[in-house]
Amino acid sequence: MKRLINVLIVNGSPKGEYSLTLQHSLYMLGQEDAVNSKVIQAGEVLSSIIFDKAWLESAISDIEWSDAIILTTPVYTMLVPWQLMRFFELIKDAGKSDVFFGKYATSMMTCFHYYDHLAENWLRAKSEDLGMSYLEGRTADNTDMLGKDNRASMRFFMHEFLETCRNKSVVERRFMPLKETKSPEFKPSRVTEPVSSKSAAQGASLKTVLLTDEYRKDGNLSAMIDVFIDAYPHPVEVVDINDFPYEAGCHGYLRCELVGECDRKDGFQDFYVNLVNSCDVLLFGMNTQDRFLKPIWKLFLDRTFSNGHRTSMMGKHTAYLVAGPLRSLPDVRQFLEGKSNVGRENAIGIISDEYEHSAQLECLLRETAESLSKAALAKYQKSVNFLGVGGIKLFRDLIYSMRGVVPDDNRFYRKNKLYDFPQKDIARQIFNLGMGFLFKFKFIRVGAYERMPALYIKLHKHIVNSGKP
Ligand SMILES: Cc1cc2nc3c(=O)[nH]c(=O)nc-3n(C[C@H](O)[C@H](O)[C@H](O)COP(=O)(O)O)c2cc1C
Repeated sequence: MKRLINVLIVNGSPKGEYSLTLQHSLYMLGQEDAVNSKVIQAGEVLSSIIFDKAWLESAISDIEWSDAIILTTPVYTMLVPWQLMRFFELIKDAGKSDVFFGKYATSMMTCFHYYDHLAENWLRAKSEDLGMSYLEGRTADNTDMLGKDNRASMRFFMHEFLETCRNKSVVERRFMPLKETKSPEFKPSRVTEPVSSKSAAQGASLKTVLLTDEYRKDGNLSAMIDVFIDAYPHPVEVVDINDFPYEAGCHGYLRCELVGECDRKDGFQDFYVNLVNSCDVLLFGMNTQDRFLKPIWKLFLDRTFSNGHRTSMMGKHTAYLVAGPLRSLPDVRQFLEGKSNVGRENAIGIISDEYEHSAQLECLLRETAESLSKAALAKYQKSVNFLGVGGIKLFRDLIYSMRGVVPDDNRFYRKNKLYDFPQKDIARQIFNLGMGFLFKFKFIRVGAYERMPALYIKLHKHIVNSGKP
């Protein structure tokens, strides 16, 4: 007879019972026997800044009760929602993180596959850090579950997960435990000039805003910011993101997309849109915490979704100052690079504080501040790599397929010529039609092969040889 096991679904979706992701976990568990199951609505309960403390205690007892946990979550802003991060943080603050130890965990995510790999990496790393055995989860879009074949794979997946738990099988560990390293203390040599004394008289002025989670405190980040601002030749407005009176995290009901306004009434949407629309350069001062940035960043970034898929920093310039072990957190770097690549925000530097000698870091900060100013004034556009090209195409297809219900995004995509589908390129279509016919003949293919190297660069060579700009 099968051993009865207790399975806890931790739902990170703020939509609670209405969560699409939850339907996947409920379906898979509902197909299994010898299982006791419970659901805790972490995303929904922890959305408001003020939450029910008694709920947290009962959630901790539910974790204690369980043999296995299914982390059920949508992907929000390339990771899990702030609410789910907060769930783990609150348990840590209560001194109860050991409640997870020795359990089996997996994840069920729904999303549009935009950076879902970073979300799963985070879930796996978090689970492994807490001493759980994590089995690779599943990620689905909004229609996958409707397919019969997909449901068969979902059932197989859940069955295997539960068997692994029943048999207490050994599973792969993928992430090294995080080392307790501290960056060297940053002691810049020069006394910095107060921000307000800088005038725009030193040439064309760029409206520059710095968003930070730490300012004028004792940490390295505050010192990095001071040096950067000192070397940067334009006035900088500093905004501490801790000071915004957030009512709650993003609700996920998409009132912003459908109606055009955020359903939270704390004024964040106006605050953010005014800020990015009015600035030329955006600076970020960020502290890391555990395997990501400080959780306040997740709250902040999830709420920026109220601007829909309109890449608000497109063509502008940014730089990121990061205090913490960025070299040991490649996913945090990828998060920042992906965000800036997809947003076409021209990140001129992502600088951490991990330098042995303060003088080195000071030089780097000062030089980056100058480079940023030069690049922004020259309207220099960085090239976009796979992280950006892939992300942009994914959004293009998504917005196009939903254009009837996301009119603001649709307008933005049209206006900025982001619907660059290859099938709309008539000249290329005609070329392919003709070549498709001609390539049926081998001698044409051989001829093309012989002429291809020179033909491929003919126009480029012409530009090179003309000597013109
Ligand atoms: C604030 C917000 C951010 C999102 N960010 C992402 C994302 O980065 N990548 C992605 O693929 N989908 C993203 N989505 C889409 C959700 O992951 C998707 O709609 C999911 O199926 C919702 O699941 P739920 O109904 O369980 O909450 C986002 C949705 C919201 C509301």
